[in-house]
Amino acid sequence: MTRVTMVVDGVSYTDEVEPRLLLVHYLRDRLGRVGTPIGCDTSNCGACTVLLDGESVKSCSLLAVQADRAEITTIQGLADGSEWHPLQRAFHEHHALQCGYCTPGMVLAAVDLLKHNPDPTEDEVRQGLEGNLCRCTGYVNIVRAVLAAAEEIRGSAVVSSGMGE
Ligand code: FES
Ligand code: FES
Repeated sequence: MTRVTMVVDGVSYTDEVEPRLLLVHYLRDRLGRVGTPIGCDTSNCGACTVLLDGESVKSCSLLAVQADRAEITTIQGLADGSEWHPLQRAFHEHHALQCGYCTPGMVLAAVDLLKHNPDPTEDEVRQGLEGNLCRCTGYVNIVRAVLAAAEEIRGSAVVSSGMGE
């Protein structure tokens, strides 16, 4: 067994884990982050995406020991208290989900995308999310939601820097 320490959704955890334990299983089975689904066994679908030190990663393609000392955000830690993240709100408002299985990963991948490219084109959104598969929506509303959230986030950045006055 190997000792790991990580901060998940703002809470610090230390555990003994088997070196072969996947991060997604650690998050779900030990820490109760069942909002992080498993959608495949080939690292293809992106459903299990989380943020590791701010970068989106497929948590089924990492071992828990590789996340030692990292800061992880799952979909369960993305909201600010009772206030949804703009991407969560935009997915809701633009009907960007049906079964919802892909949604946690899609939202977290989009957080990373907008961090690196706050003003993406539609094509850039599609490219940025190509590692995340959705079997229901046809992607149109997902792309709309991400573009709408990007606009909202840019708007609030302008207001908070005083440039909107
Ligand atoms: S469950 Fe991780 S990529 Fe599908
Ligand atoms: S909403 Fe069902 S897989 Fe995307």
